[in-house]
Amino acid sequence: DTVESVIVAIDGPSGTGKSSTSRAVAAALGLSYLDTGAQYRAITWWMISNGVDVQDPAAIATAAAKPAIVSGTDPANPTITVDGVDVTGPIRTPEVTSKVSAVSAVPEVRARITELQRSIASSAATGIVVEGRDIGTTVLPDADLKIFLTASPEARAARRSGELKGTDVAATKEALVKRDAADSSRKTSPLAKADDAVEVDTTDLTLEQVIECVVTLVEERRCAT
Ligand code: DC
Repeated sequence: DTVESVIVAIDGPSGTGKSSTSRAVAAALGLSYLDTGAQYRAITWWMISNGVDVQDPAAIATAAAKPAIVSGTDPANPTITVDGVDVTGPIRTPEVTSKVSAVSAVPEVRARITELQRSIASSAATGIVVEGRDIGTTVLPDADLKIFLTASPEARAARRSGELKGTDVAATKEALVKRDAADSSRKTSPLAKADDAVEVDTTDLTLEQVIECVVTLVEERRCAT
């Protein structure tokens, strides 16, 4: 391993602080950042916008190669475009959130997005933090460091409700548990902890503590060749 370029995979269910942690770690260490959930959301947004029935896996498979998806990799300003349209905002709507698990379970979608992810990771000069569900297990099995973030369902729902102001914690928890169950039980590269991943339970940690912990782990990995 060279010390110049480091590849960090951060996986885990929603509401564990994956995005905030990944962005902050990348910024602190001068690395690129890739939000793979945003890519699945972007392709879902395109399917909805183009009238593709998200309950029809065959229709999704046929359309999977059509949208051009481009991810920005600056941790200070993560953006994503589909066919040249900036969808950074529109991919966070409840409609996209409720449909993304069905779209991302289709093997043709995963193959397409996985290829994009590998190409982005291999061209990141100083290294990259890639966050998702299957990065350590499937996308980048040779990552220099794999982190698996967890937290209790209560803590995760409370964090998500805080982000989406005014939403009810119980309803958020139900939607989140349902999405995680779908993401964990799908056949093609489900949400899972890699055998060699370091598990960090964030339930009783502040975001700052999680960031500090992961930065330390990356620095250790960087100097241990
Ligand atoms: O991290 P997020 O909530 O933005 O991810 C949205 C969805 O995308 C999530 O429900 C599952 C899917 N996803 C995936 O299947 N594989 C990834 N590597 C990242 C996200």
